[in-house]
Amino acid sequence: MLDLFEGEAPWQEPLADGAVVLRRFALAEAGALMEGIAQVSEQSPFRHMVTPGGHTMSVAMTNCGTLGWATDQRGYLYAGRDPRTGEPWPAMPAAFRALSDAASAAAGYAGFAPDACLINRYAPGAKLSLHQDKDEPDLRAPIVSVSLGLPAVFQFGGLRRNDPLKRLLLEHGDVVVWGGPSRLFYHGIQPLKPGVHPLTGEYRYNLTFRAAGKNDYK
Ligand code: SIN
Ligand code: FE2
Repeated sequence: MLDLFEGEAPWQEPLADGAVVLRRFALAEAGALMEGIAQVSEQSPFRHMVTPGGHTMSVAMTNCGTLGWATDQRGYLYAGRDPRTGEPWPAMPAAFRALSDAASAAAGYAGFAPDACLINRYAPGAKLSLHQDKDEPDLRAPIVSVSLGLPAVFQFGGLRRNDPLKRLLLEHGDVVVWGGPSRLFYHGIQPLKPGVHPLTGEYRYNLTFRAAGKNDYK
């Protein structure tokens, strides 16, 4: 078992009220998660979405699960079908759901049942501007965010856009969970620095698990 962790056992770092970083938590499952990303993106390819403001996002995205997040000139929405293929979003791979279940439980959110997983792919220079995850109807459920591949600087602030930001490097296998009092905290990713990672090549991937439809989370 121990060698699965490549010598490094996971540890936790508190981030804010209701938010925690589970360092290296996904390391042992990273290969299976990358296989899942390959399967999903074969069916629903990565694409650069265009925001309502007409800005083409630098991060490439796809989704799996019963709902997927998308944006276009008309707005932001969760929908059951990939607008690009016209087909339902690919099912959430079992390894994804297992990781989300373990991480949410470790962070104190046992019972979180995500129905959507947004997959972000960052090439060098790609970034995600400061934003809130607020398109989900039920804000009692947390967000579980898994980082794979090249490291990136994550910014985590507060409820107001101009609240002070914490900056932390998210590395391969790190998981951030935020919910409760920090569920609507502003966050973002600074432009990715170029590099090569043995598992993901020239990219960083991020999975965010969300409850985007009706759910029983308490
Ligand atoms: C997100 O805010 O949806 C993704 C954050 C990340 O890529 O770590
Ligand atoms: Fe987000």
